Amino acid sequence: MKNMKTVFLERKPETASSEKFGVGQAQKVRNFHRSLPGYEPTRLVELKSLAALLGVRSIEVKDESSRFGLNAFKGLGGSYAVARELGRRLNLKDSELNFNYLSSNKVKERLKGQTLITATDGNHGRGVAWTAQQLGLNCVVLMPKGSAEERLDNIRRLGAQASITDLTYDETVRSAAETAHQNEWILMQDTDWEGYRLIPCEIMQGYTTMALEAAEQMEDRPTHIFLQAGVGAMSGALTGFFADLYGDDLDAPRIIIVEPQAADCIFRTAAADDGELYAVPGELDTIMAGLACGTPCQTGWDQIRAHADCCIAIPESSAADGMRILGNPLAGDPAVISGESGAAGFGCLTDILRQPDLAELKDKLDLDSSSRILCFSTEGATYEKGYRDIVWDGKQFPD
Ligand SMILES: Cc1ncc(COP(=O)(O)O)c(C=O)c1O
Repeated sequence: MKNMKTVFLERKPETASSEKFGVGQAQKVRNFHRSLPGYEPTRLVELKSLAALLGVRSIEVKDESSRFGLNAFKGLGGSYAVARELGRRLNLKDSELNFNYLSSNKVKERLKGQTLITATDGNHGRGVAWTAQQLGLNCVVLMPKGSAEERLDNIRRLGAQASITDLTYDETVRSAAETAHQNEWILMQDTDWEGYRLIPCEIMQGYTTMALEAAEQMEDRPTHIFLQAGVGAMSGALTGFFADLYGDDLDAPRIIIVEPQAADCIFRTAAADDGELYAVPGELDTIMAGLACGTPCQTGWDQIRAHADCCIAIPESSAADGMRILGNPLAGDPAVISGESGAAGFGCLTDILRQPDLAELKDKLDLDSSSRILCFSTEGATYEKGYRDIVWDGKQFPD
């Protein structure tokens, strides 16, 4: 029996405008991303045989594994926010916020010696390191204890000074913030707190490019959108984008936020729904490294509270199921290589559709033969041994 903890939310659109993450803003963001080397929309794959087997109209998956050659969507956020921050520091006009100008010798000369710093469980740091490399900036990346060496090496290969600390994720974030303050470095963190909101908001806006691409690639509007959350910045931004695009009425797509049970800070915040943020203290033991965050991002949560419909905390086995199904499709469907965090939303969906004991949840979510479902595979196999253990060797996890 799969243990899925669920809380339903009634939307409160009046509590947070979705405009900051809406279509107009996303178009501006995408114009910036289009100026970056290697920009191409990632593919949206349709799993027709799977949808037929599971009794729904369609299942589409946005595959972010090819984004900028970084194996995850995260470079979208770091690159956009770094550009905006440099624009402020150098007093640039909006029209100058493009890669050619920012990487010109004139700008490089003015930025000499500037250092970016961030904390990461892997993907975000890789995106910031890549941006720093493109623009000739120094970059320091701190990772929580237990981070995979492979993820560390991938960041170092981009020229960043990266290290694994003996701290939890939340403590690593605090350490990066203190180090930035002491050295007057630029903190590029993908979550926010009192007094530090602008850069995280721009990182979130950066993520909307993948939602805009998906909306343009889909033939029909979806009825359900599954988004996985760590601090809730990505899912918050995309929730805002889709609310802006499709509205908040009863016929808008259901937005479902998915987290690991071991790091269910958005779920806890939704369950209490009293205006406070609820953190998960201590060590967060989950294979979904990108989602192993203890404290929600306020701006992300505000969007989720206003415009999302349901929060689900999944067992470890759901992410593993999602990876296996995506990597081993039915005849006629394309394969998607998806890592533990990348497959969380999809694994939640397929478990709900496949497990008889989740029939009630399936009904409550109105998942039926007319459903058109959109999932985001937000990373490829960012930890290859972990991927093989699960997908090849069938490593089992608690339900
Ligand atoms: C692959 C992947 N998916 C989803 C997320 C969740 O993003 P957020 O922390 O903004 O909720 C992350 C965060 O690092 C990630 O690496």
